[in-house]
Amino acid sequence: MAKIIDGKKISAQIRAEIAEEVAALKSEGVTPGLAVIIVGDNLASKVYVRNKGKACAEVGIYSEIIEMAQDTSQEQLLDKIEELNLRDEIHGILVQLPLPKQIDEKAVIAAISPEKDVDAFCAENVGKIMLGTASFLPCTPAGIMQLLSRSGISPEGKECVVIGRSNIVGKPISQLLLAENGTVTICHSKTKNLAEVTKRADILVVAIGRADFVTGDMVKEGAVVIDVGMNRRDDGKLTGDVDFNSVEPRAGYITPVPGGVGPMTITMLLQNTLTAAKNRIKK
Ligand code: GUN
Repeated sequence: MAKIIDGKKISAQIRAEIAEEVAALKSEGVTPGLAVIIVGDNLASKVYVRNKGKACAEVGIYSEIIEMAQDTSQEQLLDKIEELNLRDEIHGILVQLPLPKQIDEKAVIAAISPEKDVDAFCAENVGKIMLGTASFLPCTPAGIMQLLSRSGISPEGKECVVIGRSNIVGKPISQLLLAENGTVTICHSKTKNLAEVTKRADILVVAIGRADFVTGDMVKEGAVVIDVGMNRRDDGKLTGDVDFNSVEPRAGYITPVPGGVGPMTITMLLQNTLTAAKNRIKK
């Protein structure tokens, strides 16, 4: 029987800590501010963006949601980002992905000022993660590191296996585990004998985007299993990349879906917005 890592509970603790810090900053006359841009009508994106706005309000962060039409041109979006780069009361800027196909995602990410890039997606911030000098960590990997540390789990000396090599999760979480002295292996769609690799893992992070992909026979007894998946079943229910029913009896710790990694992502966005505001004061 695995211990369940409760992302909702850990997220609530961190949000309470953030709210205290936000209140302290406000008493010094600074209200952290986040701008979220959403382009087009993607329903899932709309829900995510609404939740980001609500979470900001709960901890006292000012937020602005900027809705732009599906047929927005790249130039219009870049102009909007430039305007937000220049506004002092906005400390963080997030452009919700995916973007409509007429817009080049890379150009958009590159247009956000690095000190306001609370997703930590731009080249400068990604480079700083490699160097260990980052002030923002990308939200989902940062959330995973918090789930581990607040559950008393250290990657030091552990076999850490990551399935997935996306820029948003797989690559950065691998760097963060390495920075904490884990021995890290990154697996992906071309990896041979995947189960042999995953069975070595003391800490297994699964971010492949395929429902129930990891099954009990792929997991070492007592392993820590972190499920980053968010897949919709035909009946509308959310399910992870890990087959919970077969993995949970073998694992030492496991994150459920929903209620594991998911709640942490927005929490770390709040943390990064607070950090951006504090960094501005230091300047
Ligand atoms: N779409 C899905 N996840 C993310 C994220 O972490 N940041 C942004 N900007 N868009 C997303």
